[in-house]
Amino acid sequence: MFVFKAAVVGAGTMGGEIAQVVASGGIPVILKDVKQEFVDLGLRKADEVTRAQLGGLVHKQKITQEQADAQAAEILGRITGTTEYEGFGDVDFVIEAVPERMAIKQAVLAELDAVTPGHAIIASNTSALSISEMAEVTSRPDRVVGFHFFYPASMMRLVEIVEGADTSPETMQIATTFAQTIRKLPIACGEEPGFVVNRILTSAISEVWRFHEENALSIKAIDDAVAASRVAPMGPFFLTDLLGLDTVLHVAEHMLASYGDSFYVHGGMQALVAAGELGAKTGKGFYDNGEPRSTGEKEFDADELTQRFVLKAFVEACLVLEEGMATVRDIDLGMMAGAGLIPPPFARADQTGLDDVLAALERAAGDWGERFAPPLILRRLVAQGRLGAKTGQGFFAYKRPDEGFEQGEAVQLETRGATAIAWLDRPPANSLSPQVIAELGRVWDHVEASGSIRALVIASANPMLFCAGADIKAFTQMDGETGAALLNEAHTLLRRMEESSTVTIAAVNAVAFGGGCELAMACDVRIAAQSASFGQPEVNLGIMPGFGGTQRLPRLVGTARALELNLTGDPISAAEAFEVGLVNRIVPDHELFDVTLAWARKLGGQAPLAVGAIKRTTAGDADLDEGIEAEKAAFGEIFQTADAREGITAFLGKRQPAWKGE
Ligand SMILES: NC(=O)c1ccc[n+]([C@@H]2O[C@H](COP(=O)([O-])OP(=O)(O)OC[C@H]3O[C@@H](n4cnc5c(N)ncnc54)[C@H](O)[C@@H]3O)[C@@H](O)[C@H]2O)c1
Repeated sequence: MFVFKAAVVGAGTMGGEIAQVVASGGIPVILKDVKQEFVDLGLRKADEVTRAQLGGLVHKQKITQEQADAQAAEILGRITGTTEYEGFGDVDFVIEAVPERMAIKQAVLAELDAVTPGHAIIASNTSALSISEMAEVTSRPDRVVGFHFFYPASMMRLVEIVEGADTSPETMQIATTFAQTIRKLPIACGEEPGFVVNRILTSAISEVWRFHEENALSIKAIDDAVAASRVAPMGPFFLTDLLGLDTVLHVAEHMLASYGDSFYVHGGMQALVAAGELGAKTGKGFYDNGEPRSTGEKEFDADELTQRFVLKAFVEACLVLEEGMATVRDIDLGMMAGAGLIPPPFARADQTGLDDVLAALERAAGDWGERFAPPLILRRLVAQGRLGAKTGQGFFAYKRPDEGFEQGEAVQLETRGATAIAWLDRPPANSLSPQVIAELGRVWDHVEASGSIRALVIASANPMLFCAGADIKAFTQMDGETGAALLNEAHTLLRRMEESSTVTIAAVNAVAFGGGCELAMACDVRIAAQSASFGQPEVNLGIMPGFGGTQRLPRLVGTARALELNLTGDPISAAEAFEVGLVNRIVPDHELFDVTLAWARKLGGQAPLAVGAIKRTTAGDADLDEGIEAEKAAFGEIFQTADAREGITAFLGKRQPAWKGE
């Protein structure tokens, strides 16, 4: 379903800003609280945030003051404050942001179930409570989902989309699309305590707290060491003062109770909270006016401290992955966008070298405790020789461009035996520009001329996306003639790929929109990572697919579904893409490259002439009589080839055939 109107219930610290975010995404929103004074506080917050954001644009001279005023009026005009449920009868998406107590949440959800249309999604901004338990009081548990913003919601781009026991895949997709509409970065996760970001961050910070209290150190020195090491954007004590000691303590206690003593609750923080000293919001916490309130003279090894932080974040990230709570890509994206860990845990481990990380964890488990025991997934990758960037694969795959080939800037060729890989590498979004088409064409020419390469994999060098579409800017700068020439060049290339006896496989790791989806569709096989998503959003720009989206999509998924995708412009998940036949397989993110290479090896190992003939003849959409004629002709030719004789002789002789392509 689609979201034309939204509502936010609870206009407190989070609610006012969430309503502002929704309104600036262009969606009308009702903001409800129990008393008018609370509604007014929320509206005031939305006003402040809007004016601050637009003021920033005026300051940078991107817009004038008059434009800013007009835009502010438009955004704020989309927010309606209320203390009643009037206007909820036609909302499509509600976000509750009432206090973090199950009884209050359930009471609000039961009310929402009665006042919103049956199709509406009820989302909760809860940081820790069970979505499934909340959903129980409604008649639509399949339409209840977690939608966890980070503080401050107007600035933090991440939203964790939390799947309850009964949340339907469609609800997850609607929530994901809605998050993108309001310009947030969604990641999907299961409803384990702490979800992804709070769990991993608290686990890592637990080490800092433990280190501090075990050694009676200075908080300022610790904060300075963490900030200087750049493993996190700021020191944990400073951060805790900003977030509120009570909030952070609550999360830490919840993690300790849920996962045991690999987590740690800081005694000093408990004492401050008991004394009502909660950080910035009460005036003092660990710091008072920038001055640390506890000191310690002891020297410490800053490297040990940061090593503990980094290793613990990595171990916890692996546990989240192993438990199936989130994908590699979503965990890393979440830790970047939600906690400012750059590089995030998996990318950092890949850069360090997974064998070195394993050795460091074995030492750490001996020195600091079993909570550092190397996770299963790490052992497995090291056993496979997947040691990270230095071997071309760890949690992610890395390009290792061939030497001796005149490499392009946006597409690079790597050859591994009989398989070539065309790495799309054009920051920030791998968008398809004339240069990309030309460079892809050069790679293809090389592959075809090589005589030894049997399969081409198209992969992205960006772990966060496959290809976000055509380079719209480049298109707007072309006149009709050059635009048409580019389309011709692209289509000729894609048809050459389809008609060739070389196999093509798209390894779709993440977003494949517009031209990215069309490029993947022109490949013989599409393997999708769990984090992949597909869509033809051209219609949202008032245009239409141009690289074959109106032709190959219906051939893959049927006309009805293709029309739906092309007309709504909304994306679909990898799971849905698999269900409708858009992709051949769906695999965990970290298995994508291996699985794709295995497909390349399998299909690239088949008799070349047979592969070419099968590719050219297989057509579910052809007229049956014409198709059969084409098959008869091709069969006759193939049967006469040396490879056919070799294949049949080898079969009868019980040996492996050796193809010559003749
Ligand atoms: N504050 C954060 O940093 C943060 C971050 C992420 C998520 N969250 C989550 O967001 C939710 C809200 O947190 P907050 O910090 O904004 O709380 P808050 O206490 O600041 O605001 C809650 C608001 O809900 C209102 N409210 C209470 N009962 C209501 C009802 N029946 N109907 C309508 N409104 C009602 C209250 O009057 C209050 O204005 C919680 O679930 C919290 O865990 C908070």
